[in-house]
Amino acid sequence: MHNVGDIVELDILDQAQEQACFGRLDSGISMLVDGKICPGDRVKAKVYKTTKNLLFGNCIEIIKPAAHRIEPPCPHFNECPGCKWQMLPYEIESSLKSKRLSDAIERVAQIKDYNLMPFIAAENEFEYRNKIELTFKKTDNLSLLGYNSTINGKPRIVDIQGCAIAHPLINQAITLFKECLENYALGTEGRISFRLSYQNSELAVNLKSSDAFANIFIRDLKELPIANITVNGEFRDGQDSLNSHVNGITYNYAPSSFFQVNTEQAGKLSTLVQNELKKLDADKVIDLYCGCGFFTLAAAKVCGEILGIEGHRASVESAEKNAKANNITNATFMSANLKKQVIRLIHQDFKHPDVIIVDPPRMGLSDIAIKDINTLKPRAILYISCDPGTLARDLKKLNSSYSLQDVHPLDMFPKTPHLESLSILMKK
Ligand SMILES: C[S@@+](CC[C@H](N)C(=O)[O-])C[C@H]1O[C@@H](n2cnc3c(N)ncnc32)[C@H](O)[C@@H]1O
Repeated sequence: MHNVGDIVELDILDQAQEQACFGRLDSGISMLVDGKICPGDRVKAKVYKTTKNLLFGNCIEIIKPAAHRIEPPCPHFNECPGCKWQMLPYEIESSLKSKRLSDAIERVAQIKDYNLMPFIAAENEFEYRNKIELTFKKTDNLSLLGYNSTINGKPRIVDIQGCAIAHPLINQAITLFKECLENYALGTEGRISFRLSYQNSELAVNLKSSDAFANIFIRDLKELPIANITVNGEFRDGQDSLNSHVNGITYNYAPSSFFQVNTEQAGKLSTLVQNELKKLDADKVIDLYCGCGFFTLAAAKVCGEILGIEGHRASVESAEKNAKANNITNATFMSANLKKQVIRLIHQDFKHPDVIIVDPPRMGLSDIAIKDINTLKPRAILYISCDPGTLARDLKKLNSSYSLQDVHPLDMFPKTPHLESLSILMKK
């Protein structure tokens, strides 16, 4: 019998969720433990919640580290909430990710008969992110810039000198920002995001802070190649869109639009989607949650006709412009909220699609989107997911009418437990 506040010792056996590992006490009791831990560790944990069959706790000490642990290269690893898996060699990280995906599919979706395809590893384990967002605070004697964390339930900014998974140009901007913040005589606080444009050669900066500090930082920024600057929601300088070139397609998009954060791996995923569509010999295709047309335009090159549907209006406008700019004439776009029924809005031409591609946010497909897919009855669904948990939940819901075939794990976010995947489902 254990109570909240108890300290227990246990072996960590598995990665259970993004934030927690599964372990077992010597008495056989199961526990989910939060912390920068991995299978193979023996840890001390403090219980914060109990249920009939499971304890929940935070790791307070690693008594015996797993034999495969390596020294994390980032000096901020211990305090920073990001990059939880820097202590793992890449082969172990890769196999844990594939296993987490198959566990979710087999346990949550209860699907056993499918093919888990080879893990598509990243060439760059570090310096891959083309976007980061940080919080900052300057008082008389304190200057902090970093990711938000909590210590003993209290919010805290973990001050960083740089971010190991961010592109080097973003790290140059971090150094400049820190100098500027440290030298600033007055107090200020806010958020800053750095995003890359033009094949990672220019920076887009979005700052929320006091105007006085923003004016000084913008002056200092002139040292770096700048795509555009937005301050407190107001466009200040540069071009009004960002730009990336992937697999022969040029994408322009609004600074507020979603764009894949790991351009190199996103390119591989886009090729994979094209290959699957070719195998399916797809004519009419619908791309749900299409953003600025990242997969839609790549898919348009290998299918008859494609309709992209997206809720963020600025992204839809970019998608339309991107189709024109790339001379793609078989892609059209529609702005719609996929939490509401969209079937009635779809043109007759797309009422019987061969394939539906979906790439929802982390929360997965809405029940209405699943209902719409079941009514449209495509021959196949290509499900791109960034969360194995919600993917497995949705696969279970779709399982009565679609059978899962291949699942491709792809590493969009090395050094973190996050995992992207592409699942192929065929109509039963
Ligand atoms: C993971 S992103 C994928 C975007 C695109 N497929 C890409 O690769 O760039 C998810 C997209 O879903 C859109 N979205 C989120 N909720 C939505 C909703 N309720 N209705 C329509 N689109 C939504 C977001 O604006 C975002 O563009």
